[in-house]
Amino acid sequence: MFRRSWQAAMIALARSPGWKQWMQAQRAASGLARRYVGGADVDEAVETARALRSRNIRASLFYLGEYVDTPALVEENVEAKIAVARRLAEAGLDVHVSVDPTQIGCAIDWAQGCDNAARIAEAVRSAAGNRPGVHCVMLDMEDFSVNEATLELHDGLRKQGFPMAQTLQAYLRKTYGDMEWKVAQGARVRLVKGAFAAGAEIAFTARDEIDASYRRLIDLMLGDTAKATGFYPIFATHDHALQAYARERARARGWAQGSYEFEMLYGARPDVARDLAAAGERIRLYLPFGRDWWPYAVRRIGENPRNALLLARSLLPAAS
Ligand code: FDA
Repeated sequence: MFRRSWQAAMIALARSPGWKQWMQAQRAASGLARRYVGGADVDEAVETARALRSRNIRASLFYLGEYVDTPALVEENVEAKIAVARRLAEAGLDVHVSVDPTQIGCAIDWAQGCDNAARIAEAVRSAAGNRPGVHCVMLDMEDFSVNEATLELHDGLRKQGFPMAQTLQAYLRKTYGDMEWKVAQGARVRLVKGAFAAGAEIAFTARDEIDASYRRLIDLMLGDTAKATGFYPIFATHDHALQAYARERARARGWAQGSYEFEMLYGARPDVARDLAAAGERIRLYLPFGRDWWPYAVRRIGENPRNALLLARSLLPAAS
């Protein structure tokens, strides 16, 4: 109960334009930014990705900015994603770019957002060429209001031959059915618990229910149909117990290391990421970059109340 209220409060703070403008202008808050953000621009972010790769950790680059509502900012977001795709290819890294539909125009005009997604997907495809690696546009999943439209966007671009991947959220009751469809397609899916709160009619709301849903989905993602269709499972969680469950199921079902992957957020439990890499697992970090760091970093605090101290340290100097 406390955890849900805390998370809801942090989501509200993340969406407050006043706080965002104020905090992003405060140098004092940069400790919070440094913890979760891989650089202020494309060059810094690719450098961070290169340093991670030297430690056998891959990255998915994400230009910060969500619920973008002006055409100029939409274009800035799209261009940053295209630029980072080219720079990742030049650096010999996976061309792996994460995208929120609402940051590339979908919040203004869904059709225009879809065109922009296709522009980014084309840039990823041509930058990657035939180089080995895991290259794709990973669609993040935002709140429930855009869930169906995001799934359709993924399927439409995938049908056109673009290298697409999709995030699904274990907290939603409908996800098991959506995952069955993605498994049958042989798609590439990143499974997360879900960073949004929703009512019991559409979502599991208790932690143990969400974890049980995540486990059922792991079983589906590592099942016989998934193997037969060439489905690529991605387990995005910092939860030790779920990571251990996925590893055990993968071994038991004969999935070789590297035929599935783990993903975590840059800055969250780096020790765990290092241990997974050392154990031979394929591990990727979601690596955000850019100046618009406040909403993103505050949502991360919402996921882990123990990080409240980090938030307090950032807020106090700003308020004084
Ligand atoms: P849980 O919250 O139970 O945490 C497990 C353990 O990890 C706890 O000990 C916790 O304290 C610690 N932990 C969790 N978050 C931490 C943090 N930020 N810093 C330090 N420790 C932390 N959501 C969504 O709705 N749509 C999306 O597209 C995405 N995309 C996405 C990509 C990737 C790569 C990841 C890892 C996560 C997402 N998420 C997301 C967020 C996801 O839904 C979820 O909110 C967080 O991952 C937290 O849930 P965990 O699975 O880590 O478990």
